[in-house]
Amino acid sequence: MIENKIIDGKKIASKIKQEIKTETVDLKSNLKITPGLAFILVGNNPSSEIYVNSKSKTCDEVGFFSVTEKLPDNVTKEEIIQLIDSFNKNEKIHGILVQLPLPVHINELEIIEAIDYKKDVDGFHPENIGRLILGDKCFLPCTPYGITELLKRSNIETRGKNTVIIGRSNIVGKPMSNILIQKQFNCTVSVCHSLTKNIEDYTLNADLIIVAIGKPNYLKSEMIKKDCVIIDVGINRIEDAMSKRGYKIVGDVDFNDCFEKCGKITPVPGGVGPMTIAMLIKNTLESAKGNIY
Ligand code: GUN
Repeated sequence: MIENKIIDGKKIASKIKQEIKTETVDLKSNLKITPGLAFILVGNNPSSEIYVNSKSKTCDEVGFFSVTEKLPDNVTKEEIIQLIDSFNKNEKIHGILVQLPLPVHINELEIIEAIDYKKDVDGFHPENIGRLILGDKCFLPCTPYGITELLKRSNIETRGKNTVIIGRSNIVGKPMSNILIQKQFNCTVSVCHSLTKNIEDYTLNADLIIVAIGKPNYLKSEMIKKDCVIIDVGINRIEDAMSKRGYKIVGDVDFNDCFEKCGKITPVPGGVGPMTIAMLIKNTLESAKGNIY
């Protein structure tokens, strides 16, 4: 019973990566195309370094070509844009990813807009976000895209379901809400955030709750309806004297508290996180195949 309740993102992501690996072999032998992904890492944010390393390792695993350019913290906007431009023109590169956040002196939107939207495998470019809202073909941002795959591959019915998204970020909350109201999913969506009054009024009515607010163990059992589905996007480091590292990773959902009452739930780690990387790789494959643009 317990296994059925847990949505195993690690396992689903692993299956998707295996599918991509097989398709990549075909693409290489039939069309002589190797999917290529360029990473740009600015400054020395330790989390960003870990994320980019992990993404680049996944490229190796599935047979992609990848390149990582590291730029110093004091780099200028013009220098970053010049590098992006060279990747825009490079035919071997099908996807460009600038790891966020950028140092405070750099305007993130200006940088994202410099990426050719046809290579914007993160799905952050205004052209892709606009198409997403219109329901047109586009690159979907990887975390929301990963959540849709978790729902589909776990056979979770979304049609007409009351869905509450907690968090309104450009990376998760905003795109997620727009994806789930599309005809493909047919959810009724409420977006809650830090200034929402009486958040329980929404969550107690929700069949599906997606939490992305960056507050450790925020969602508690008294806030949820019995048998609801919970998707936890949070990745929070909290002190843990029992752990060798001195910390542990927890989500935005109090997993142990909600487990009994909910219908299905994603764990942290091993839920949404691995899916984000899998969908980045998927977007890059589709870009290389010319399936999006
Ligand atoms: N920073 C946190 N998540 C992401 C992501 O999905 N893509 C990029 N480029 N930066 C991030």
